[in-house]
Amino acid sequence: MTKACVIGWPVEHARSPIIHNHWIKTYGITGSYGRELIEPGKVGSFLKNLRDLGYAGCNITVPHKEEALAALDDIDPTAAALGAVNTVWLDQDRLCGMNTDVPGFLANLDETVPEWTRRTTHAVVLGAGGAARGIVYGLVNSGVETVTVVNRSLDRAEAVAAIYPGRARALAMADVGGLLPRADLLINTTSLGMKGQPALDLPLDRLKPDAIVADIVYVPLKTSLLVEAEARGHAIVGGLGMLLHQAVPGFEHWFGVKPEVTRDLYDLVAADIEG
Ligand code: ATR
Repeated sequence: MTKACVIGWPVEHARSPIIHNHWIKTYGITGSYGRELIEPGKVGSFLKNLRDLGYAGCNITVPHKEEALAALDDIDPTAAALGAVNTVWLDQDRLCGMNTDVPGFLANLDETVPEWTRRTTHAVVLGAGGAARGIVYGLVNSGVETVTVVNRSLDRAEAVAAIYPGRARALAMADVGGLLPRADLLINTTSLGMKGQPALDLPLDRLKPDAIVADIVYVPLKTSLLVEAEARGHAIVGGLGMLLHQAVPGFEHWFGVKPEVTRDLYDLVAADIEG
């Protein structure tokens, strides 16, 4: 019996159990995936006890992605660059971790708009939090020439852009209108558009007709940004695919099978989100 879990504070809202338990069933694995509510400050001791608790590994959700890093023996370059880890597994007695949010975001883009790299010279990332940091890293490392980080607080956008001199720059959200005609790929990483939050208010009529529009928000499944972009004829990329794709490496490490992100899985998680 192989066990894994997600740790967070809070953790009830986490949807990874639906994803992993679907794969456990699909691949006929003797295993389970649960939730563990871990207080801030207790992440290191939980991870050090992982084996004694019977776990092969775990996912790390908010707010533990930084705290977990300090407890690990090995981390991948993406987790090291971002200072955030979301997937942990045991290799003999070594605690290993990686950041799968970035490859998950890129895999979702690849799946939805396979030619996106060829079409993207200039990407515009809305937001400057942890999610934006990961996405800017992923875009720059995928060869996107220029990334503009756009944020309500300009200083946070400047801090992210400063990591990639010559490749990234910063802009205040209030000035985004003038930038839209030059965006090949527009990505929302802010909480705007999420259920219960105000919608993003952008003059989408200024986008080039072939601009790609992506959102990492997945509740609702299609944000008002994506609804409007789709109505205007843009290729759109929803946030749910990123959630599903980021789960793949963890499952493979714990249960030994590389799982597929299928239509069935999309429908299952979408049904849960739509409640
Ligand atoms: P995460 O780490 O999950 O990406 P975060 O650090 O809380 O989240 O960042 C949330 C992002 O949404 C930030 O870019 C935030 O802008 P500020 O840095 O200016 O706070 C953005 N955001 C949240 N609410 C917003 C609002 N009402 N208007 C504009 N931007 C907003």
